[in-house]
Amino acid sequence: MTKVLLTGGAGFIGSHTCLVLLETGHQLVVIDDFSNGSAEALRRVAELAGLGPWRQASAEHWTAAEPGGGSLTLLRGDVRSPRDLDRAFAITGGGISAVLHFAGLKAVGESMTQPLRYWDVNVTGTVQLLEAMGRHACQTLVFSSSATLYGTTDRVPIPETAPLQPINPYGYTKAAVERLLTDVATSDPGWRIALLRYFNPVGAHPSGRIGEDPNGLPNNLFPFLCQVAGGRRQHLEVFGGDWPTPDGTGVRDYLHVMDLAEGHGRALDVLQAEPPQMLTLNLGSGHGYSVLELVRSFETTNGLTLPYAVVERRPGDSAVSVADPREAERRMGWRTRRSLADICRDGWAWQSANPQGYGSNEGQPTGALIGAQQVS
Ligand code: WQD
Repeated sequence: MTKVLLTGGAGFIGSHTCLVLLETGHQLVVIDDFSNGSAEALRRVAELAGLGPWRQASAEHWTAAEPGGGSLTLLRGDVRSPRDLDRAFAITGGGISAVLHFAGLKAVGESMTQPLRYWDVNVTGTVQLLEAMGRHACQTLVFSSSATLYGTTDRVPIPETAPLQPINPYGYTKAAVERLLTDVATSDPGWRIALLRYFNPVGAHPSGRIGEDPNGLPNNLFPFLCQVAGGRRQHLEVFGGDWPTPDGTGVRDYLHVMDLAEGHGRALDVLQAEPPQMLTLNLGSGHGYSVLELVRSFETTNGLTLPYAVVERRPGDSAVSVADPREAERRMGWRTRRSLADICRDGWAWQSANPQGYGSNEGQPTGALIGAQQVS
């Protein structure tokens, strides 16, 4: 059993990873500013993991534990704040042996209009995290990277050795953090670092209790499609019907968020079991599906009809983006196990049970108060 810090652990991928790590007995500390995450998500994670009552110690601090087993502590905080980071490392008495770094901004379009914010949160946030790790003698890090790094390559499938040619500020920040982490690992051979390049994470935990809850209008296909299915959006706009693909619509490598979460668990195991090293791995299925294939699978799996209209291409899009996932299987025995139908079934289970996501109770007391002890 090890103690792990997850930055951004109250978000979509972070919350699902928390559940996987709790089920393998880890003690978790989460720091999250709730800009794209929710205390409610982690209350539900604690419930799914069978931990004891979710208790709120202060306006910034929640906790739940299973006697003698896993525990989950949540601290509202900003990864750019050395004070917040030191509180996260210290809040359960120290002993954090590894960090999973999810905290970051990830909307491609938004990054075009707010580049300074993206560089500050994604890059400065990582610099502050690395400095805090140094203060707390922790040198094991799993970084949430992205296939966006590859840009609009025409290689199919894409190996990790493909050139990095990001085409938007979001992608540039991911490339900058990978460069930073490479320099840190080169400067001190004690570091254990995994760069996990996600393709298209979608779906939800099969319970329907946790899932993707984007702020406002979803930027990405799957959450938008789920909201159309739930009647929250009128119809889906298919961005381009004239791509050089079998049916003319964009092809992507969709992977179930539970497969992705399990991939993080495997990467952590490998880093902690083997000598210090840097892993760079694509996390994808290796299979491409078009927009219309995803729409059809969603309709067939869930017995419903999705209204859509084919419109102009979206600027910055590429025709095809599919992972070569062989290195992840070779290095950590991981590959996706869930199908497109599983993705559609589980995504709909979440959406239909939570039409407004986690709701707007953010920051409100959730769970029993255990006194007004201040988090030092
Ligand atoms: C998928 C396909 C669109 C919306 C982005 C980021 C990537 C990662 C995942 C963070 C494309 C089409 C989409 C819609 C559509 N995020 N589409 N109608 O662009 O592959 O990847 O999100 O790491 O870094 O770049 O994902 O879901 O936006 O698009 O037709 O309303 O669906 O053209 O072919 P994308 P996406």
